[in-house]
Amino acid sequence: MELWHIRGEKRLCGAVQVQGSKNASLPILAASILAPQRCELYNVPQLRDVDAALRILRCLGCVAEQQGNTVYIDSGTLSGCSIPHSLMEEMRSSVIFLGALIARCGEARLSLPGGCQLGKRPIDLHLAALRELGAEIEEDGTEICCRSARLHGTEIVFPFPSVGATENAMLAACAAKGETILHGAAREPEIVALQDFLGSLGAEISGAGTDTIRIGAFRPCGSTAQRIIPDRIVASTLACAAASAGGDVMLQGIDPRHFSTVLYFLNKAGCDIMSTDHSARIRSSGRLCAVGPVVTEPYPGFPTDAQPVLMAAMLQARGRTLIRETIFENRFRQVPELRRLGADIDYCGRTAEVRGVPRLHGAALTATDLRGGASMIVAGLSAQGETVICDDGHITRGYECFDSRLRALGADIWLER
Ligand code: UD1
Repeated sequence: MELWHIRGEKRLCGAVQVQGSKNASLPILAASILAPQRCELYNVPQLRDVDAALRILRCLGCVAEQQGNTVYIDSGTLSGCSIPHSLMEEMRSSVIFLGALIARCGEARLSLPGGCQLGKRPIDLHLAALRELGAEIEEDGTEICCRSARLHGTEIVFPFPSVGATENAMLAACAAKGETILHGAAREPEIVALQDFLGSLGAEISGAGTDTIRIGAFRPCGSTAQRIIPDRIVASTLACAAASAGGDVMLQGIDPRHFSTVLYFLNKAGCDIMSTDHSARIRSSGRLCAVGPVVTEPYPGFPTDAQPVLMAAMLQARGRTLIRETIFENRFRQVPELRRLGADIDYCGRTAEVRGVPRLHGAALTATDLRGGASMIVAGLSAQGETVICDDGHITRGYECFDSRLRALGADIWLER
């Protein structure tokens, strides 16, 4: 159990380097098995989910080591194509190894990732895409067994731009004979990062960032290296913290275009935002006004992962903020916890209404999930008195050295393990 202790109402000031993206690292780690070559990845955050992906790679026979923020992988020694349940259950996104394994080995066997705190999270779109590429898939409710003598290029139309399904299809399509065209693909920056990595491995691939991705021939080429893109959700969290606590924070090593919708709402709420290509400065008096309505959507819309942290920033904003969650069915789990701080929030189904209160007060909270936990940190930083967040390891799944990064900005926060 981890305990986050926060004494709130400290202004945040200074510069902070934003970590590399968890959600870009995970599919790239899976993609590293596509060809028997060595690769080096830089700016990889040191997180539990990254560690889980490295253990999966080692279990498959690869060499996979992390030193600081650099990861070394040699998949030339890959010797297996099945992932045991104990490793699968650690991280839902390990399902992304399905496409990579079928591409490299023509076979993959893994247990179903199951649901999670945010809702059902089925993988029907992943499996449908792999089947269209020619994979034979058997499921018995607990295990998936996927085989293919030869995948073939085809046109796949996604009814919804699922990030994970797009990634799985991109990975598998690399091994297909002939061209694959993905229509209605997800457009997230992490998809572009995966395309860049696959390109460096030897794939002929283009279109990521639009809703049509083309994957052609794959000719493995020597060793490769790639720098992981900055984490737009961690950047959003820090921006929301600065906005609600007040202060003057410079986010460095980021791409502000990746979370421009978040910066847009913070600006509307009264923050002064100045961006360059690789930084954003957020100046805030801490007295915000309500914004909205905020509606979560696939990229380039407002990110569902930033919804809880923006909600936290609006708790003391003058007026009422409406938030509509369209991606996950169960993404207001933070609300009852935020209410313990004195927040005035109602929600019904997928819509929440935040009515700003003049003051929040510290309380004992329990982190519900990764971004829900982050929202409690943002709220605790602007609450009067001490907040203690009891967390079963959710927050450190996605936030690297978050307490020390916030302390460097003047926050009174420490993590007790
Ligand atoms: C990724 C991110 C996650 C983010 C989400 C949406 C990673 C590791 N995780 O998750 O942080 O919140 O994108 O931006 O990158 N769906 C189906 N069938 C499927 C797949 C998805 O119905 O086969 C539904 C899901 O239940 C969910 C919605 O589609 O309601 C979005 O899911 P998806 O885009 O696939 O998210 P993930 O890739 O799981």
